[in-house]
Amino acid sequence: MVQAVLAVDQGTTNSKAALVTAAGHVLATASAPVGLSTPRPGWVEQDATDLWQSVLTAITTCLTTASSSSAAVEVVAVALSTQRESVVGWDRSGEPVGPVLGWQDVRTAEWCAQLPSSVDDLVRRRTGLRVDAMFSAPKMRWLLDRSDAYVGTVDAWLIHRLTGCQEHLTEAGNASRTLLYDTLELDWSTELLEAFNVPLAALPDVRPSNAGFGVTKDVPGLADGIPIVAVLADSHAAMYGQGCTQAGMAKATYGTGSSVMTPVDGFVPSGCTLAWLTDRPMYALEGNIVSSGAALAWTADLLGLPNVGALTALAATVPSAEGVVLVPAFAGLGAPHWDREARAALTGMSSSTTRAHIARAAVDAVAHQICDITDTIPGTLSSLRADGGATVSALLMQTQADLLGHPVEAADIPEISALGVAELAWTTLGETTGWAGKRSFRTFEPEPDAGDRGRRRAEWAQAVASVRVRPA
Ligand code: G3P
Repeated sequence: MVQAVLAVDQGTTNSKAALVTAAGHVLATASAPVGLSTPRPGWVEQDATDLWQSVLTAITTCLTTASSSSAAVEVVAVALSTQRESVVGWDRSGEPVGPVLGWQDVRTAEWCAQLPSSVDDLVRRRTGLRVDAMFSAPKMRWLLDRSDAYVGTVDAWLIHRLTGCQEHLTEAGNASRTLLYDTLELDWSTELLEAFNVPLAALPDVRPSNAGFGVTKDVPGLADGIPIVAVLADSHAAMYGQGCTQAGMAKATYGTGSSVMTPVDGFVPSGCTLAWLTDRPMYALEGNIVSSGAALAWTADLLGLPNVGALTALAATVPSAEGVVLVPAFAGLGAPHWDREARAALTGMSSSTTRAHIARAAVDAVAHQICDITDTIPGTLSSLRADGGATVSALLMQTQADLLGHPVEAADIPEISALGVAELAWTTLGETTGWAGKRSFRTFEPEPDAGDRGRRRAEWAQAVASVRVRPA
């Protein structure tokens, strides 16, 4: 009998499951899509029941795959990594009330803009973040205005369901993305709860990332009583999995949006997030990009291509974008520009512009946005560790290294969040792990043309400036 941790990674576009041994070997994986709807401009919703069903499908498919391809597997623990900031509301019987308000949803942008500046000051001091419609608190307020519900981030919803509706718990790193959690005091902040008018009773209790989150109950395919030992936010789980814990290291996760994180010694009141909380808090500076994989998917669709793979293949047929720049501010600009009223633009086209140049501009846009954040990281960056679905594109990774002027190390397993949280689970169970040290990376060295890099970065900066609505 092989012992394994069942790691679930619930993301914006799909739910993944992996069975991972104490040595970090992946016995089986499975994935199930999750629907997403945009009923109005700026509204991005998911269905909480569908989301849970997709997790169940991923789990059962993964277990079935394992049973047909390897020795019998004993699931010793469950580990959970989840999309962040998105909010679910559910009633006392565990039934969802209303849609999941996705992290990309900006329906509360106007409400946020009307908050007094004292709230933004408080948010910065207590959370290291800033008031923005992406974060959970305004979404919770929106749901609570419509029903008397429990509210929580996706980790809390899944813990609730995995435990047969027994537990109402959330993990500290996920809580740190709500705007309600005091990231220094490591507890819900009474002042912030008051500022956003969210009652404490509606919120789950916060636990450290490896504190234990109850045991499984009534989960099809899984025995009752399996402990949920580790929970991390997905981007944070990738940082854990990448072994990105020393100053000078940074990781970029290329998902629907992108997240760049670099560890810092302690809390700083600007761009800071709680990566995880174990025996001590691990803080990180983070920049969130609203649209990266989403920009590639949008461009593929626009050009009538079947998928992002076809887009990057088309982009690779031309040596450059020939001055074409795509600024994918479809829902405004996130870090470090923070202008949610800005809108997307495609600039620099001439009569010789082809579909391939537009495809190339989309790839460039993903890399430029990462550079905009790494440019703000203090100190010297030795390299960037990359993960997430889009890292399979050698063109994107090479473009990233070229624009960065530093090597990029792409993880051998692109979807690393599940492995990251599985590693934390095994560590919690007393195993010695250190998997990142044993992992191999595909390293992309920058082309040494600094002049070209400067010109392309300047073109990008000019295009970004042209879409801004709020002054920089
Ligand atoms: O902050 C949002 C992020 O957690 C979403 O991740 O993997 O679904 O793009 P992903």
